[in-house]
Amino acid sequence: MHTQFKKDIDAGLSDEQKNLSSKYFYDKKGDALFMQIMAMPEYYLTRAELEIFTQQSDRMISSLKLQKENYFELIELGAGDGTKTKELLKVLIEKGYQFDYMPIDISENVLGHLKNTMQKELPSLSVKPQQGDYFECLHNLQDSHHPKVVLFLGSNIGNMSDQQAADFIYKLGKELSVGDKLMVGVDLIKSADIVLPAYDDAAGITKQFNLNLLHRINNELDADFNVAKFTHAPEYTEDEGVARSYLQSTVSQTVTINDLDKQYEFDAGEKIHMEISRKYSEKILQKIIEFTDFNITENLKDSRNYFSDFILERS
Ligand code: TRP
Repeated sequence: MHTQFKKDIDAGLSDEQKNLSSKYFYDKKGDALFMQIMAMPEYYLTRAELEIFTQQSDRMISSLKLQKENYFELIELGAGDGTKTKELLKVLIEKGYQFDYMPIDISENVLGHLKNTMQKELPSLSVKPQQGDYFECLHNLQDSHHPKVVLFLGSNIGNMSDQQAADFIYKLGKELSVGDKLMVGVDLIKSADIVLPAYDDAAGITKQFNLNLLHRINNELDADFNVAKFTHAPEYTEDEGVARSYLQSTVSQTVTINDLDKQYEFDAGEKIHMEISRKYSEKILQKIIEFTDFNITENLKDSRNYFSDFILERS
């Protein structure tokens, strides 16, 4: 992990357009800041998707074509704290559906927490956490031959490029069978005055979240980033529908990373690309899944049309 981390940081900072991979955001501090972001008033995404889960669970269940007498596996990729999913699970249990809830995550820690909360709040739920890589875990579940519903919520797909998203959905299809469902939560394209504040909250939590990666590099790779000389500069245009996070060097400066035995020059105003967050429309999703084995069968939106959970069926 550490050698890969070193390699990726060096490659990113040596690129023409400097970049750092957002997959390294999530150390302990990063996890905590991320939880705070989701609770910020500007971060409408979580609340919008939660509204879909609380208010449209019946429609969700019928759109997923679930049947009470047929056991199925409800698989969630990167479940986090499971707040949204819990709303669906509650209704499924109340109505007597037979299923196992299988959250997949790379972090043993996250899965432990999730299992505890679920057992406390929904004691009759059968939770079977799967620790590891999404595709490896799904591959291992293939032998069961049970119908599957896969959840990929929270606009996590938005952090991939369109090509990465297409490859990701294609690969999911290879691990699933005809009739299995995939529900993807996406943030919808809307005006900058709504989207941009979600990535640039007034309290500056998102800024800290991005800067935390520089702290992490300082701590883990013995570097000397002067974090006060970088600012957070997100961008979004409704035309393109992609939010981009950058850290911007406020002055011309040199940073040394001792563990890499290297120095990196920053011009005044130079930007490091950190993350994209793609906003969707049905047309964009349709194009992305064009060469996969999935079809869109349903589309559940919140009352403000901010967010959408698309249901795709494996053909
Ligand atoms: N995937 C979500 C989104 O794009 C959550 C997220 C990932 C996020 N990285 C973030 C939110 C950085 C705020 C800032 O919105």
